[in-house]
Amino acid sequence: MNQAPAADPETLLMQGRERFAAATSLSELDAAKAELVGRRGALTAVQRTLGGLDEQQRRDLGARINAVRAALAELEAQRRIALTDERDRVVLAAEAVDVTLPARTARRGSLHPIHETMETMVDVMANLGFSAVEGPEVETDWFNFQAMNIPVDHPARGMHDTIYVQPPNPADPPGSVLLRTHTSPMQTRTMLAQGPPVYIAVPGRTYRQEAADATHLPVFHQMECLAVDEGLSFADLRGTLAELCRGLFGPGARIRMRPDHYPFTEPSADVDAWVPAVGDWVELLGSGMVHPNVLHMAGYDPEQVSGFAFGMGVERVAMLRHGIDDLRLFTDNDLRFLASF
Ligand code: DAH
Repeated sequence: MNQAPAADPETLLMQGRERFAAATSLSELDAAKAELVGRRGALTAVQRTLGGLDEQQRRDLGARINAVRAALAELEAQRRIALTDERDRVVLAAEAVDVTLPARTARRGSLHPIHETMETMVDVMANLGFSAVEGPEVETDWFNFQAMNIPVDHPARGMHDTIYVQPPNPADPPGSVLLRTHTSPMQTRTMLAQGPPVYIAVPGRTYRQEAADATHLPVFHQMECLAVDEGLSFADLRGTLAELCRGLFGPGARIRMRPDHYPFTEPSADVDAWVPAVGDWVELLGSGMVHPNVLHMAGYDPEQVSGFAFGMGVERVAMLRHGIDDLRLFTDNDLRFLASF
């Protein structure tokens, strides 16, 4: 083609009109443009013949070449706009969202039922003005037992079959450091750290030497509550417990209290809940008015302030709320169980 004698510009204009119109892609258009008006293109070849012409012919042909070049540039630009639009339409159509397809939802996890129950407990207490605090799981004998008015030789200590750990400081005697057997030690830790009034809820993990079965685990959870203020009475304890119980088991839930004994409270009471979903009374927690010795060891004056406290097992409440009959389900990590919450 390069060898062929140069065509006249108007023929090239006709060719260009056809070639540009026939181009179905931007690369075909680029190729046609190069062949017609590029540096090695047909129109440029005509231009190169100008040198061999006389003045008048040169001016004449030059003007025609310029006119054709301008016309071709215009045609090429228009076709380019059309092809670019076309390409964008195709790309957008391919990327378009089909709103009729089923949604691809993210696979969401859910709270473990123990965690969810603990959060619910803390929420109910927060609505009553109690702040949530957490404490160490590795505890000293003093906070876990002695400050709770459980002396070294008290039979209650035998009751907690305690898991002891090696004291980090070799100067401390064996048996002085342990995994806390209840959340009660946070009573004294909190009172030592601040003055009255105290309104705290303490969710957390607790440990006892137990063989695992349907109703026992060596690692379990409790929530402790402590209120210390001027003039708190047993009526405040009862009202608080009734409210907590309704928060956990619904508006139809009720409580009843039975006298019991705990070294850290005087008087002490065990609390049963009427759980509507169960249709029966269920033993729920231990409670009482904070023993003067406990207040005293925490640096509070039992003549100035009084308090109430209670401690409840979280697993038991979770089982009652969800109708679960085997504790071990909580720790098996079976997704069929966990995904059902
Ligand atoms: N600490 C007791 C336990 O683990 C529960 C308890 C009973 C806590 C009475 C209290 C209380 O604060 O007043 O069995």
